[in-house]
Amino acid sequence: MIATRLTELFGIRYPVVQAAMGYVSGPRLAAATSNAGGLGLIASATMSLAELEGAIAETAARTSAPFGVNLRADAPDAAERVRLIVSAHVPVASFAQAPKPELIATLKEAGVVTIASVGARRHAEKAAGWGIDAVIATGGEGGGHVGAVPTSLLIPQVAAAVDIPVIAAGGFFDGRGLVAALAWGAAGIAMGTRFLLTSDSPVADAVKRVYLAAGLDGTVVTTRVDGMPLRVLRTTMIDRLEGEERGGSGLGQELMADDAPVLLRAAMVDGRTDLGLMSSGQVTGLIDDLPSCAELIEGIMAEAGATLERLAAAREA
Ligand SMILES: Cc1cc2nc3c(=O)[nH]c(=O)nc-3n(C[C@H](O)[C@H](O)[C@H](O)COP(=O)(O)O)c2cc1C
Repeated sequence: MIATRLTELFGIRYPVVQAAMGYVSGPRLAAATSNAGGLGLIASATMSLAELEGAIAETAARTSAPFGVNLRADAPDAAERVRLIVSAHVPVASFAQAPKPELIATLKEAGVVTIASVGARRHAEKAAGWGIDAVIATGGEGGGHVGAVPTSLLIPQVAAAVDIPVIAAGGFFDGRGLVAALAWGAAGIAMGTRFLLTSDSPVADAVKRVYLAAGLDGTVVTTRVDGMPLRVLRTTMIDRLEGEERGGSGLGQELMADDAPVLLRAAMVDGRTDLGLMSSGQVTGLIDDLPSCAELIEGIMAEAGATLERLAAAREA
């Protein structure tokens, strides 16, 4: 057992969060994580309000443990989503990108624990000033939209800058990483790619096989998909997009911005690996199995315990 400010804040057994992933972290994955003692997060940016309502009900039916909803504060219906989270008694709300002070206040008044995702110290300080309960700080090796600062530098910096619990993300996959995050001053870890690659993840096996086959050089950060830095699997399509950026010809950014959600959905929901757009962290290069969420989290906790003993023994020797 490793008790931290995170396990205390959320009332969970283990300091392990399943990061929100569009089209991937729905009821099945979020509930499997929460049932395994971690905190599952439903990704709602890719759901309609009605779909989110259904997803919350299904998750609550699958688990009696705490879970959360990840949402965008700049969504046109963000206030309605917050009302839904409150009325459905969802224990945790996490903001993808920048939160809004009034939404944080509404959630906190209703007793919902709030989290903000940050990629830079100043964003963590701002959210802390608005009363957020915790931050997920994600380093540049993470999957999906990422900043440029690596996890090994971002986490110690953010942990020193704010008093609230910091959840470290970007490149985590095992118990040694959890201990490293705690050493840097974090209260736990969040993982995306590692949870995508579980037997509880709803993604098609053909897609999982592409991730498993990738090496540490198998991802790339591109701004050609939607204008913001996005870490994805390096595929023929991505190589072509990047090449066109250098050559200045071919597909324009406008076209891709419209196509990106369609292509992401086709890969994650329909198993279309051939379309070539799949968000991924660099850590995919170190992953070669598909455990259940329970096996994954139990394994991480066992390894974290063994790592702490190894370090303590080294000190005594
Ligand atoms: C397939 C995939 C989809 C993602 N979709 C979202 C999303 O919809 N919203 C979001 O805020 N972050 C998204 N992310 C980022 C994750 O929440 C998290 O920051 C990241 O996975 C952490 O790095 P790791 O993959 O190295 O664990 C996604 C990541 C992946 C791998």
